[in-house]
Amino acid sequence: MSEGITLRDVTKQNIRQVLKLKAAPEQERLAPTVAHMIARGVYEDNAWFKAICADEAPAGFVKVWESNPEEPDLWGIMVDKKYQGRGYGRKALEFAIELIKGRNPQAKRLCVGYLPENGDAQAFFKKCGFEVDRVQPFDGWKEEIAYKEI
Ligand SMILES: CC(C)(COP(=O)(O)OP(=O)(O)OC[C@H]1O[C@@H](n2cnc3c(N)ncnc32)[C@H](O)[C@@H]1OP(=O)(O)O)[C@@H](O)C(=O)NCCC(=O)NCCS
Repeated sequence: MSEGITLRDVTKQNIRQVLKLKAAPEQERLAPTVAHMIARGVYEDNAWFKAICADEAPAGFVKVWESNPEEPDLWGIMVDKKYQGRGYGRKALEFAIELIKGRNPQAKRLCVGYLPENGDAQAFFKKCGFEVDRVQPFDGWKEEIAYKEI
């Protein structure tokens, strides 16, 4: 199912398709849009992002922030609703971890934060080996923080 998945740069050629990627309607209020993730990523030092592609076609988006080299942050991951439940998220996470470790051998654990009411994210990260550490205030909301050894 997850064959043909790659992480690719967002380029002049694919940006229109990347910006059309959408989570499911019920997920949209629980996670940032791709446009928001790109805008924040561009202006943050040590952040990078990639399109998750199914063969040539953008199918999702992943963003990493490496401000703490030992403990990078999976700042965002989104798989378009059409591609969800087919292993794209898990594969993209594996590829992102490979990229992180290639860039930065001292990386020890990956951190992620998401809204505690985001049940899909909670289930996904648990299945992918993250352990919940705490819930903390975030921007007037609360976020659940989880870690995975890498
Ligand atoms: C979270 C998200 C990225 C998962 O992507 P996905 O491609 O559907 O996930 P996968 O198909 O790779 O699933 C990987 C594992 O997680 C499990 N999983 C994923 N979503 C799940 C859910 N809602 N409930 C239970 N298990 C779930 C799968 O069963 C799979 O388990 P397995 O490998 O042991 O069989 C996707 O739901 C999404 O884009 N959500 C909206 C954006 C978001 O909330 N992002 C996270 C916060 S930044």
